[in-house]
Amino acid sequence: MNNLLITGGAGFIGSNFVHHVMQTHPGYRVIVFDKLTYAGNLDNLKDVSTDPRYTFVQGDICDAETVKRVMREQQIDAIVNFAADTHVDRSLMDAGTFIQTDVYGTYVLLEAAKEFGVERYHQISTDEVYGEVLEGRSTEVDRLHTRSPYSASKAGGDLMCLAYFTSFGVPVTITRGSNNIGPYQYPEKVVPLFITNAIDNVPLPLYGDGSQMRDYQYVQDHCEGIDVVLHHGSPGEIYNLGTGVETRNIDMAQLILKLLGRSQSLIQPITDRPGHDRRYALDCGKIQALGWHSRHNFEETIEKTVHWYVENQWWWRKIKSGAHYEEYYERQYAGRETDLKLA
Ligand code: NAD
Ligand code: TYD
Repeated sequence: MNNLLITGGAGFIGSNFVHHVMQTHPGYRVIVFDKLTYAGNLDNLKDVSTDPRYTFVQGDICDAETVKRVMREQQIDAIVNFAADTHVDRSLMDAGTFIQTDVYGTYVLLEAAKEFGVERYHQISTDEVYGEVLEGRSTEVDRLHTRSPYSASKAGGDLMCLAYFTSFGVPVTITRGSNNIGPYQYPEKVVPLFITNAIDNVPLPLYGDGSQMRDYQYVQDHCEGIDVVLHHGSPGEIYNLGTGVETRNIDMAQLILKLLGRSQSLIQPITDRPGHDRRYALDCGKIQALGWHSRHNFEETIEKTVHWYVENQWWWRKIKSGAHYEEYYERQYAGRETDLKLA
């Protein structure tokens, strides 16, 4: 496995994975293939941009001709697919884009994987495909019970991967990760949104009463787990990837404000997200059996992330002051304040 095609490599997790691979596999060539949507950002890859082992191609995973040309010209051995539309709230506004990228785009990549006989096609998926889990933990054989257009689209991509394994023998693996946080996360997702708002001393828009729970994992841990599955996972298999510890959103918000020395009164309850999944929880025994364990606990994860956003304001201020972000923020949050009691 020498030449890796990393689709969506200019996004949050993809760019962290590019850094990880270049540090831990010095013999690999990394070809990032990314459409550069609002979420793709070449600033995320600035520090590898002059490395001779790195190539960037701007392209759409739904464009089969361009995908195949890159496969051929770059002699790709393995595909790791991070490319997706990823934000639940945007999927409630425009589900069609999610179906196109997350389902059709995955199909185009699988066709390319089949035609070029790759050693591995690895799909980055999410715990959200299991739907909300009020008790217990999801295992890889649990039924999918998606509730948002985002999670339904991701489930469609997963099922297409499994179909290509069964029908055509494409050596597919899938990881279903919990919520990632860390450097280079677009500040529409809750943790970078709350940290950057708190730095600027503006309200933190908390959905509902804040009692929903997520397994927040450090992105570096997730990248290490993907690496383990890419090299040691079995074709046709799915691996859950998270810390196994869930935290309430209200507790996450309070910790961020405490670390930044801001008033807890900045927490602003707003109208809940429609169909808001109350809890995701993963059983990660299967990947742990391959020797992977998450190295950061929740407090360390939040502390490191707060530190990064304090130190790297050049990165997120450009995004937050852009017209795209401002329009999105207005559309998403204007007029949703409530006097709901916090959990
Ligand atoms: P992101 O939104 O930060 O990045 C997505 C990247 O994909 C961007 O660079 C974007 O330009 C690119 N992209 C979008 N459509 C494309 C297309 N048609 N062709 C080529 N490139 C395209 O997302 P992320 O948070 O880094 O998530 C990466 C993957 O991990 C996604 O598949 C997501 O479903 C999954 N995932 C994310 C999380 C999380 O907490 N962020 C958790 C579990 C799984
Ligand atoms: P998010 O980062 O959108 O990820 P997920 O895909 O898990 O929904 O949201 C994480 C949690 O934070 C989720 O329970 C919804 C909540 N949330 C808020 O309370 N306020 C916000 O502004 C956002 C974006 C999310």
